[in-house]
Amino acid sequence: MANKIFIDRKINIFKKKIQVSGDKSLSIRWVLLSSIASGVSKSKNLLMSEDVLAAIKAIKKLGIKVIFKKSICNIYGKGIDGYKYKKNLVIDAQNSGTLGRLILGLLVNTSYPIKLIGDKSLSKRDFKRVTDPLSKFGSKFILNQNKFLPLVIYGNSNLRGINFYEKIGSAQCKSSVLFAGFRAKGTTFIKAKKSRDHTELLCKHLKLPLVVKKKRNYDLIKIKKVKIIKPTNYNIPSDISSAAFFIVLTALSKKSEIIIKNVNINPSRTGVITILQRMGINIKLKNKKIYKNEKIANIYVKGSHKIKPINCPIKLNSGAIDEFLIIFLIAAKANGISYFKNIGELNKKESPRLKWGAKILNLMGIKTLTTNNSIKIFGNPDLKIKKKIIIKNFLKDHRIFMTSVIAALSFGGVWSIHDKDSIKTSFPNFLRIINDLKK
Ligand code: S3P
Repeated sequence: MANKIFIDRKINIFKKKIQVSGDKSLSIRWVLLSSIASGVSKSKNLLMSEDVLAAIKAIKKLGIKVIFKKSICNIYGKGIDGYKYKKNLVIDAQNSGTLGRLILGLLVNTSYPIKLIGDKSLSKRDFKRVTDPLSKFGSKFILNQNKFLPLVIYGNSNLRGINFYEKIGSAQCKSSVLFAGFRAKGTTFIKAKKSRDHTELLCKHLKLPLVVKKKRNYDLIKIKKVKIIKPTNYNIPSDISSAAFFIVLTALSKKSEIIIKNVNINPSRTGVITILQRMGINIKLKNKKIYKNEKIANIYVKGSHKIKPINCPIKLNSGAIDEFLIIFLIAAKANGISYFKNIGELNKKESPRLKWGAKILNLMGIKTLTTNNSIKIFGNPDLKIKKKIIIKNFLKDHRIFMTSVIAALSFGGVWSIHDKDSIKTSFPNFLRIINDLKK
C-alpha cells in the first residue's frame, strides 16, 4: 500500500467526543522507571507507538521482562541495580530523542560498553548536550563526530553527584541527569531552565529522594542516590501534543465542536492552549482533576470565526515546543501578522521544523519572514487553497505529516502527503480518528 495520502476536500462540520492516545513523555518515563523498580508495575493506556515500543525493546535487552496482558503492560523490574549488562549490547532508540537521551542517564553505571544507535533523523540530533553533563558523573562517551549517534557509553561503578546548569530548557537533558543522579554518591544539583516536569512529578509520586524548588525562570532540583523504587500502576492520560491536532482542526472549522477526553494538562505542556486562547480560539478545560501529581481535564473546542494574530511571549515557548507547527496553521488564518521568536530549538527536532513550518505555509500561499530563530506569519482570514501541494519530508517527521493533513482538511486544495507511516512513532490512531470525525 502506498505510504502517502491524498486529500482533496475540506472536512465537513463535525460535533464529536474523542479520546487521543496516551502521553508519549509519560509513557516513556513510566517504562524506564518501572524497569528499575523492585517488582511488577502495570500500566493502562500506555501509548502503543514505535517510540514507546523502542523503550520496551531497550529495557528487554537489559534483561527486564515485559508482558502485555490484553492492553495492560506489565514490567517486571529487578531493582535499581537490576539491569543485566553484557558484552556487545546495542540499544536502538529509533526515532526517539526522549528515549535516547533519558536512557543514557540510567546506563551511566554499565559494566560493559553499550552502543546507542538511532534512525536517520535521530542520528542528526545533538547528543553532546546530554553526554557532556553525564561525563561529569564519571562515565565516558565516544560520539560520532563528537556530537552524534552512534555513541558508545563506558560506565563507572563509582559515580559522584554533580552540579549542572541546564540552559537550553530541555526536559530530556534535565531528566537524563536526574536519572544519573539516582545512581551517584552524594548529591546532584540541577538548575534547570523551565521545561516539562513529568520526570520530577513521577519521581515525587514514587517518593524518590528529590527536592524541587520552583523559581520564576528556572527550577532548582536536588537529587540523592536511590536505594529502592516501589513499582507503580499508572493509567496514562492522553497526550496534549496529539490533542493539539484536533484542537486546531476544530478551531479552523466554523460551527464544528469537539470534546477531547482525559488529556494531561500539566501547566508545563499547555502553551498551545494559552497561545490559541489569546488568538481568540474558544477552548475550555472542564472536569479538572489530579492524578498522581499530573493535572487532567476534558478539552472543549468550538470552531472560530475570527482569529487574532499574536506576538507570542517567549515565556510560552517551552510549553508549546512540540505544537508550533500546528499553531502556525492558526496564525495562517489570523487577521494580521503573528510573530514567534526564540524558537530556534524547533530546527533541532525530528526534522528542522521551523524551516518546514515556513515551507508548508509558503506552499499554502501564506507569506512568512523566517530567521534561524523566529518566524513572522502574514495571516489571511480568507485563505482558500486551490492548487496542488506535495509534502515529502526527507526525515519522515510525524508532526510534519499530521500538520499537513490538518492543513489540507482545513484550507482545501489537492494535497499529496508522503510518509504516512511516520504517525506510528507518536500517534498511530491519528488517521482513524480523522475518519471517525467524517462519519
Ligand atoms: C520531551 C522533551 C522535549 C520535546 C520532546 C519530548 C520529553 O524535547 O520536544 O518531544 O519527553 O522530555 P527537549 O527536551 O529536547 O526540549
